[in-house]
Amino acid sequence: MSVLVSARAVCKSFPVGRSRWRRRSVRVLNDINIEVRAGEMVAIVGPSGSGKSTLLYCLSGSEAFDSGSVRVAERELHGAAPDTIFEIRRDHITFVFQSHNLIPSLSASENVALPARLAGHPLSRKQVNEALERVGLAQRARARIDTLSGGERQRVAVARALASDAQIVFADEPTASLDSHNASNVLHLLRAVPTDPARSVVMVTHNLEAAALADRVVLLRDGSVAGELARPTAQEILEWMEASR
Ligand SMILES: Nc1ncnc2c1ncn2[C@@H]1O[C@H](COP(=O)(O)OP(=O)(O)O)[C@@H](O)[C@H]1O
Ligand SMILES: [Mg+2]
Repeated sequence: MSVLVSARAVCKSFPVGRSRWRRRSVRVLNDINIEVRAGEMVAIVGPSGSGKSTLLYCLSGSEAFDSGSVRVAERELHGAAPDTIFEIRRDHITFVFQSHNLIPSLSASENVALPARLAGHPLSRKQVNEALERVGLAQRARARIDTLSGGERQRVAVARALASDAQIVFADEPTASLDSHNASNVLHLLRAVPTDPARSVVMVTHNLEAAALADRVVLLRDGSVAGELARPTAQEILEWMEASR
């Protein structure tokens, strides 16, 4: 099985404090090793502040890291030129951000269509409508983002990611603002992505039922990988998180 994302010894710190003389920094990711193979869904769980979002940003080329290596589709991100990182992201990655990253003044369908248009291979109107239909938002296609609820915005962000045929879907808490019906629908849509053996999903979640849909669950604690479980139940994840505290 081919490896789509491979992180080796990834470390990242953020500067803290404002003093010019005493530069302090806090280590947020500590010697992270992770592999994501084509055809699998990997969930990343861990307490708030454990570095899950930061890790997803580093794995997807959205944020730089201090040391180590991240290879996406066999291309190295560390030290790569911005143009190269842009290309790797454009060619292989789509992202459902925690903050949704939608353009408020554009409509739902314009937001879904935008990344593919910028990448130079626009979607048809039918593809855009289908993506919105899959998240139950066909009726809201023409609504401006700033008139939608938080949950509807999250579903537009999911539709935008699913409309792309990127090999790797990164999703940061993709069901956080959804009611249980929509959460379950979104999770099943994400779960369906790696039925294509060339694609994979990496999802951060605090919902253990959601994590239990993954092929592997990685536990992050204080910026380090504390362990990994293959195809666990939600109960097993819970017990394991408590035991490793
Ligand atoms: N841009 C930033 N500057 C400084 N500290 C940050 C920044 N982003 C995140 N952090 C810190 O890094 C740690 C991990 O954050 P994050 O990756 O968002 O955790 P999680 O997603 O697991 O809740 C937290 O302590 C957070 O305060
Ligand atoms: Mg987070």
